[in-house]
Amino acid sequence: MKPTEFDQWCSTELDAVESALAAWVPGDAPAGIGETMRYGVLDGGKRLRPLLVLATARVVHGERDAALRAACAVELIHAYSLVHDDMPCMDNDVLRRGKPTVHVRYGEAQAMLAGDAMQALAFEVLTPTSTEGLVAPALQARLCGLLARAAGHAGMAGGQAIDLASIGKPLSEAQLRDMHHRKTGALLRASVQMGAACGNVEGAAWDALSEYGDAIGLAFQVVDDILDVTQASETLGKTAGKDLDNNKPTYVSVLGLDAARRHAQTLRDTAHAALARSGLADVTPLALLADKVVERDN
Ligand code: IPE
Ligand code: IPE
Ligand code: MG
Ligand code: MG
Ligand code: MG
Repeated sequence: MKPTEFDQWCSTELDAVESALAAWVPGDAPAGIGETMRYGVLDGGKRLRPLLVLATARVVHGERDAALRAACAVELIHAYSLVHDDMPCMDNDVLRRGKPTVHVRYGEAQAMLAGDAMQALAFEVLTPTSTEGLVAPALQARLCGLLARAAGHAGMAGGQAIDLASIGKPLSEAQLRDMHHRKTGALLRASVQMGAACGNVEGAAWDALSEYGDAIGLAFQVVDDILDVTQASETLGKTAGKDLDNNKPTYVSVLGLDAARRHAQTLRDTAHAALARSGLADVTPLALLADKVVERDN
């Protein structure tokens, strides 16, 4: 892919993801839960995780139907994590993706249940019945395992638990890195690994792609911490300055803004170096996604 083709590629893939999500997230589920799920998932967000799955699958010539399913599944897990992250018992946020948060719009019980259902739907999407599409059973199992491990106690949910347990505490850089790797990095790395699994990648290329995913996963949360203090709520689509308000340790509070920015650049270099080592041809979309992670303003 030529760098000039990247924006067009992103826009085509974002349309494909939006249509697939709109088809899979139910509109007519009992007692309004489908409407709540649709509000939480559709028409919003940067969709970075789906782009990572699809870019990796493209680089490794992975199976298309499986990759699109994996792209939507990881976005469902991510969107559910945001619904719960915003609830009063967690970060207590009222604005997300430029709209009132799910619990503000539909109430806390619906937000909790819609999040639960979005998590389950992610695994439904990864395991199509024979009439819905064909993904080889071994690949279905592999994708489910990668996503479950990244979403659960050792990954996102565990990282979120550390985040809440760290309020008001002066974490060391190593503790902060561990928290960020889990709460955010795990799902980004899993996005890359799921794309790679769609092309049966193993060995040195798998290790290099995983290292790329680790680096951009951490960079993503470092930049999220930076944007929280440098951008306005209108740009972010969520309330700025919340980390300080909530007394959360972040890369900015622990290292300072300049060092946090330098760290994000170093992680981008690490990601690029891992791609160079992967032995894969035409890693352009992954290199450009790493740049996007670090250069974004929302
Ligand atoms: C926000 O994620 C939460 C973090 C993990 C930092 P995104 O910045 O990817 O949110 P959306 O999907 O674009 O709304
Ligand atoms: C959230 O981190 C990570 C998740 C797993 C959702 P933040 O709490 O910093 O995310 P924002 O800033 O609310 O999007
Ligand atoms: Mg949070
Ligand atoms: Mg939050
Ligand atoms: Mg944040």
